[in-house]
Amino acid sequence: MNEPYTAGARYLHWVIAGLIVLQVVLAKWAESAADANTPLQQLALLANHKSIGMTILMLAVVRVIWRALNPPPSLPSHIATWQVWASKTAHWSLYGLLFALPLSGWLMSSASAYAVSWFNLFTFPDLVAADELLKSQLTQIHELLSQLLFFLASVHILAALFHHFRDKDDILKRIISPGSLLLGLALVIVGVWQLGFATQKQASPTKSTDSQQTTSVEAAISAMQKTIPEVVASDLPRWNIDYAFSHIEFSAEQAGAQFTGRFSEWQAEIQFDPQQLDQSQATVTIHLASVNTQDKDRDSTLDQPEWFGGRRAQFSASHFEVLTGNEYVATNATLNFGAQAHPIEFKFTYDAQNTTLSGNARLDRLVLGIGTGEWLDTTWVGQFVDVKVVVKAE
Ligand code: HEM
Ligand code: HEM
Repeated sequence: MNEPYTAGARYLHWVIAGLIVLQVVLAKWAESAADANTPLQQLALLANHKSIGMTILMLAVVRVIWRALNPPPSLPSHIATWQVWASKTAHWSLYGLLFALPLSGWLMSSASAYAVSWFNLFTFPDLVAADELLKSQLTQIHELLSQLLFFLASVHILAALFHHFRDKDDILKRIISPGSLLLGLALVIVGVWQLGFATQKQASPTKSTDSQQTTSVEAAISAMQKTIPEVVASDLPRWNIDYAFSHIEFSAEQAGAQFTGRFSEWQAEIQFDPQQLDQSQATVTIHLASVNTQDKDRDSTLDQPEWFGGRRAQFSASHFEVLTGNEYVATNATLNFGAQAHPIEFKFTYDAQNTTLSGNARLDRLVLGIGTGEWLDTTWVGQFVDVKVVVKAE
């Protein structure tokens, strides 16, 4: 037999080939989940698609370094010159795609304000700022590159099979070893099973644990329900709020990565004076439909009945205590979604010079009843939401 590829080159070839097959299966299933209007399944499958895609990118780097250190065997002399050039062109184009495809996916995710997480273990940095137009252009590029890969890989595979079955030469044998081929196959089977079937099942709306989870959440909700604190008449002047310098935002975890959202429509009625805490009180009404997470798809999912469903949230507080210096806590703060009021802990600082109040609260979305049905599962969307409020008086 002609000189074979090194063991490293053979393993890398079949592992990457296996992951590409898995990658395409996950993408197609995610597309079907979108068509079937099962957004949690789509989110979960795409999260796995991104993790596998980034694995391919890292392996492609290893493969190119390996190749530079271990040059591939030259082709046997009986191969026609045009075939030598055709194979060189195809191989370099395939290498190019092993970088271009994951990079376009990574850019696309960054442009749509979805940071890329690697199997929920760590997050890759965003490459570009969120931008709707760029996102749709990159989506088209990603799709085009995946079609190009499909075409080139098909020609590549056909050429390999022609050499093996028609020319009966050793070209295919040079890159195959039983171990490397088996590993590639095993990755496809285990991957499709674990990252495809199992993920789909786990993110399924008909999951049996749903009813149990609903019951425990309902129990938690009823245990924590409280009436809205009575707002007593106060003599303190009402703040004239400077909305341009005030904001309400939240951050939460989705598919292992953080995202943030802001509400553009909200009104606050604040009477706060650190010298007269007993007279101070605050009510903030947030129109949840005005949420902006820098991704239209995610915003429209949040508008569904399982999430905000056009509701309004009302924050009320009328008892405050000093913690240290200019740090305060609202001791009876509640957050009210529709008919239910939930006690929350709200700590804030007051900057007297700029008449600005900045506070934080950590909310348990399950207790608040936000993200019901299939979304009760916290594997893909985190349970806790951090809210940040900055309110400035003119
Ligand atoms: C070699 C690696 C990759 C391959 C072969 C691949 C392949 C594909 C394919 C075939 C689709 C379906 C396109 C269509 O027909 O609409 C797709 C969609 C997608 N890919 Fe990849 N991909 C790769 C890497 C990545 C990476 C690294 C990311 C992100 C970090 C990513 C993110 C996405 C997203 C978000 C979609 C859905 C786009 C949409 O329709 O909204 N991909 N990919
Ligand atoms: C999408 C999956 C695949 C990709 C991305 C891919 C990519 C590549 C690349 C970049 C090379 C060049 C290696 C080098 O010289 O450094 C190569 C070699 C090779 N590939 Fe693939 N391959 C894939 C699937 C397959 C399959 C399924 C077969 C067999 C049916 C195959 C057969 C071969 C053969 C025989 C060689 C060695 C060619 C030679 O000796 O010049 N490949 N492949």
